[in-house]
Amino acid sequence: MKFTIAIDGPAAAGKGTISRAVAESLGAAHLDTGLLYRAVGVKGGDPVEAARSLSPSDLSRDDLRSLAAGEAASRVAVIPEVRAALVAFQRDFARRDGGAVLDGRDIGTVICPEAEVKLFVTASPETRARRRWQETDEGSYEDVLAQVRARDARDTDRADAPLRPAEDAVKLDTTDLSIEDAVKQACAIIRNRLGR
Ligand code: DC
Repeated sequence: MKFTIAIDGPAAAGKGTISRAVAESLGAAHLDTGLLYRAVGVKGGDPVEAARSLSPSDLSRDDLRSLAAGEAASRVAVIPEVRAALVAFQRDFARRDGGAVLDGRDIGTVICPEAEVKLFVTASPETRARRRWQETDEGSYEDVLAQVRARDARDTDRADAPLRPAEDAVKLDTTDLSIEDAVKQACAIIRNRLGR
């Protein structure tokens, strides 16, 4: 059986945890598309070349989850040729047998507009900064909040595939939810939409 679940939203809204849990509960494969942009961002050299020649070893680097890698990802993600080079891999992944969950910024709008279910996960910038800061233990809370705001602005204001909910996306605000409750609500929405 093939189905695609698109989970989009800003940095640290809970997309990653929710996507992993949803994929596990449905027995589907999961792709964190932010890792593709992070790998391009940290590879160095010409980002377009880096995106075109991305290999599995680039995706298994230890430093991809750092704040610096997230920042670098957001910078290369504004380049249309970088985005174009990563489309085919994501679309192939989305149509694999057994179902696929993809999380990112433009999955429901650009990569998989026909996804069976689209979820747009948000939370206030302060909540997301606090989560990211506790997770990474890097810099001060104020620094992380400033980075979250700068990243939101860059992801939302770019011309190519900006961060925005698809018209048919279900919105889930996790500001006042524990991660367990966010996961429960996301699974319920998705199972309901998929009819399973
Ligand atoms: O989800 P993340 O924090 O790992 O994403 C890092 C950056 O990559 C994000 O700021 C913007 C970019 N990105 C994107 O443009 N499109 C995606 N589908 C996923 C990530």
